Amino acid sequence: MNTELFILEEKKLHNQIDEIAAILKKGGLVAIPTETVYGLAANIFDEQAVKNIYRAKGRPSDNPLIVHVSDLEMAKPLIKKVPKHFFELADHFWPGPLTMVVEKTQLVNNTVSGGLNTVAIRMPSHEIANKIIASAGVPLAAPSANLSGRPSTTAAQHVIADLNGKIDAIAVGEDCKVGIESTVISLVDDKVTLLRPGIITPEQIKGVTGEITIANAVKEELKNGEKALSPGMKYKHYAPLAKVILLESDNDTLYNFIKKEANEDTAFAVYKEHLPFLQGYNVYSLGDRDDYYAVSAKLFGVLRKADEDKVNTLYVLSPPKSGEFLGVYNRMLRAAGFQIKKL
Ligand code: TXA
Ligand code: MG
Repeated sequence: MNTELFILEEKKLHNQIDEIAAILKKGGLVAIPTETVYGLAANIFDEQAVKNIYRAKGRPSDNPLIVHVSDLEMAKPLIKKVPKHFFELADHFWPGPLTMVVEKTQLVNNTVSGGLNTVAIRMPSHEIANKIIASAGVPLAAPSANLSGRPSTTAAQHVIADLNGKIDAIAVGEDCKVGIESTVISLVDDKVTLLRPGIITPEQIKGVTGEITIANAVKEELKNGEKALSPGMKYKHYAPLAKVILLESDNDTLYNFIKKEANEDTAFAVYKEHLPFLQGYNVYSLGDRDDYYAVSAKLFGVLRKADEDKVNTLYVLSPPKSGEFLGVYNRMLRAAGFQIKKL
């Protein structure tokens, strides 16, 4: 299949958005930028188009998709019973990187919901994404625009690498500002549960709802036989081809370790403060260690760069495990297949 590239340009934007919306309305698949990661979009009411998303990504059919809306009116008909806190949370965090899981109506087919009776909904704050949804006039199902299991795509060239030839079009925009996927919470049965951490923190959500439970799988591996609250928790995620190991270490121990372990096939993802001490070694910078926004924006790009550089083993220095870093830590832990090395 020939994949059309729309190089988004201010002067042409209006027409480009309408052309992309027309492809979506006809049942096509288009990768579009959002504030979190690129998404692979299709009209939720066209079940064949939604099936094609699973095929293009190689995604297991029981892993449901997030539905993207451009305004609240578009969301309401999809929700069976509006749960407690839904409107307050929408008021605080939409448009933005928060996804809410609610009970679905018949309008949401089983291909979108992966057979569940719930649906995950979010309203992106990315202006172009929002305008594409509005122009299509229908909600869009959009998982991250990567091959299933690979790191999510935060730059158009990542999408081209994974999906060129497999989908109708790619909207080539700027790199994604947040860099990790949205925070996912369930509001089912009026309980607030964090299913996937993101840049919006549990503390911020609690500030609105007064309560939040963090699913175990956010910080640790699912135990044998433990039920996944979100199907995505079961699957391998964000993994580059390189073997990733999460390192916990103070700076001096880290430098000694790198000096000992360094070889052609091994690389280290560290922070800006470490770079002057590691000149001449294979290192990638995850940015300023105190700036969780910078680190999250860089993470998936670094994982993908390590593959381009044919790295065999990539050691990633762990950030803090909680607070604003919870989302980044969760992605690193999964990319590492839960392998942690304490020095
Ligand atoms: O930032 C994002 O959320 C991006 C952009 C494109 O919007 N999308 C994204 O979609 O990350 P995806 O499909 O890669 O991740 C969706 C996650 C999966 O872990 C899935 O299992 C979970 O949300 N999910 C979707 N529907 C659900 C539901 N009804 N109940 C529980 N979990 C659900
Ligand atoms: Mg994904």
